[in-house]
Amino acid sequence: MKKYFKGLTAAAVLAVILPAVNANEAAPLVIAATTAVTSAEITGSVPENLNVSKANVFNRLLKKIVDPNAAPPDDGIHDIANDAVHALQPPKVAYEGLPTTEFGNHIDWVKALDDGLLDPRYDRVDPEVEPFVMDLDIVRPVKASVPDVVFPHKPHTQWLHCSNCHPKIFIPQRGANQINMSMIILGQKCGVCHGKVSFPPTTKSCSKCHSKPKPADWKPPLSQATVKNPWR
Ligand code: HEC
Ligand code: HEC
Ligand code: HEC
Repeated sequence: MKKYFKGLTAAAVLAVILPAVNANEAAPLVIAATTAVTSAEITGSVPENLNVSKANVFNRLLKKIVDPNAAPPDDGIHDIANDAVHALQPPKVAYEGLPTTEFGNHIDWVKALDDGLLDPRYDRVDPEVEPFVMDLDIVRPVKASVPDVVFPHKPHTQWLHCSNCHPKIFIPQRGANQINMSMIILGQKCGVCHGKVSFPPTTKSCSKCHSKPKPADWKPPLSQATVKNPWR
């Protein structure tokens, strides 16, 4: 096959193969391939005086979110040229009357559910399926002086299925997973959701996860280097 098409361009090869599959669909595809813009044309469209590095534009940690609940036409994500976008319900209208927080999208979703203000469907197809709620807290002692982390299964399993976390994100065994703040901020472990679809780590939300005060006699652990230091 490879040898047979030797010397032809990719578009020409497509033109030969595709009509055999579906003549109607292949025609526009070949036109698109031959009229595709060159990379030189794309680079030319960026104003030369625009002295901004494009390296980190997709880094969510650097982007300041001005209004997390902006209406679809103003949120910078939706295509304003599409008429349907203007017909979508703005989040602020949908969120009216829900309890608020100081971070994320400013709605306390856990409280809203507990107060019976929401009734999310658990199964996409069957409206009768009830969530399998498991009330099990996992305490993760933190070596640093911040309060220990309590991972509560209850508010998670009210929304999520066990398989959303087990076994791909977390092995279901206490202490079997290595977790730290750097991983979370980089979008791993708890950060797969927290900072994306659930409340983010911000200076105001630390205590949501770090909720168990250290024991009164707690002392920071000495590092091996300090313990072994003969000069101390
Ligand atoms: C949002 C993520 C998440 C969901 C959803 C979740 N778990 Fe877990 N689960 C965890 C974490 C985190 C741990 C603690 C792991 C650790 O300490 O290393 C854990 C631990 C466990 C453990 C070990 C407990 C122990 O004492 O060793 C079991 C069993 C478990 N989960 C079962 C379930 C079941 C059953 C469900 C569904 C009803 C579920 N989990 C849903 C995140 C989740
Ligand atoms: C989504 C839950 C969550 C939030 C929000 C959160 N943390 Fe953590 N944090 C964790 C978990 C889980 C660990 C790992 C605990 C362990 O050692 O098992 C951790 C660990 C830490 C550690 C120990 C060092 C390390 O990286 O493991 C420090 C310090 C820390 N967090 C500070 C903070 C501060 C400050 C904030 C607020 C800006 C914060 N955390 C917000 C879940 C969270
Ligand atoms: C699969 C997604 C997912 C993962 C992974 C996840 N969470 Fe959550 N978490 C949620 C959702 C969804 C909620 C409920 C909505 C909200 O509060 O934003 C929630 C709520 C919470 C709450 C309850 C806050 C309250 O108001 O009572 C805590 C605490 C929490 N998460 C800590 C953690 C910690 C610690 C980890 C990692 C060990 C973790 N979560 C991993 C999705 C996740």
